[in-house]
Amino acid sequence: MTDFDALAKVWDADPRRADRARRAADAIADAVPLRNSMRVLEYGAGAGLLGLALAGRVRELVMLDSSAGMIEAARARIAASGAPNVSADLGDLTDGPWEGEPFDLVVSLMVLHHVPDVCLLLRRLSNATRPGGWIAVLDLEPEGGEYHDPDFEGHHGFSRGTLRRAFSAAGYAHVTVRNALTTEREVNGELRSFGVFLATAQCESPAPVDVR
Ligand SMILES: C[S@@+](CC[C@H](N)C(=O)[O-])C[C@H]1O[C@@H](n2cnc3c(N)ncnc32)[C@H](O)[C@@H]1O
Repeated sequence: MTDFDALAKVWDADPRRADRARRAADAIADAVPLRNSMRVLEYGAGAGLLGLALAGRVRELVMLDSSAGMIEAARARIAASGAPNVSADLGDLTDGPWEGEPFDLVVSLMVLHHVPDVCLLLRRLSNATRPGGWIAVLDLEPEGGEYHDPDFEGHHGFSRGTLRRAFSAAGYAHVTVRNALTTEREVNGELRSFGVFLATAQCESPAPVDVR
C-alpha cells in the first residue's frame, strides 16, 4: 500500500504533478460542458491540485480523499488560494456510500489504479451523481508495471474494454475513452513517459445506494 500520508509532505516538491493537474483540468474542460452552476466532487483529490485548477469554472468543488495527510495539504492549499467555493474532507467511498447531495460532475486523477475494487468505487460514484450528471476520470493506460515499485499491488493501468465494461455496469452511458496526456517518471535513472487516458460518461441510472 502506498503511504499517502507520508507522500503528502513532499507532494509539491515535484512540479510535474502541478503541471499534470493543469493539463488534466484543460482536458476535462474540453470534454465536459463545465457550467458555473455545477457542484463538483474531486475524488482522491490528494493535495488539491486538480480541484483548484477547476474551481473557478464551477459553483462548488468538494474534495474527498482517504489520506488525512493529503486532506491537510489540500486544506492548506485551499486556504492559501482564498477560493471560497472549495472544501476538502476525509472519506473513502469504498467503505460506504456518499450520504450528501448528489453532484453534477465527478472528477478524478490518478486514483483508480490504487483502488482494489474499481467496480465498487464506480458504482458508489454513480450513486453520488445526479441522473444526467458527468464523470471524468484520468488514469494510466495499460503499462508493464514500471510506473510503481515492483511490490506495488494496485492496477498496471486499464484497457479500454475494462473501462467501458466497468462504467456501463455502474450505470453510466455515453462512455468515451481517449488519450489525454502523458505523465513522466524516472525508472532506473531514466525519465519515462506513461500514457494517461480520460474517460468521460454520463450517469444514466445511478447505482442503488447499498450496492456491494
Ligand atoms: C496518486 S495520488 C493522486 C492525487 C491527486 N489526484 C493528484 O493527481 O495529484 C492518489 C490519491 O488517491 C487517494 N486514494 C487512494 N485510494 C483511495 C480511496 N479508496 N478513496 C479515496 N482516496 C483514495 C490517495 O490518498 C491519494 O491522495
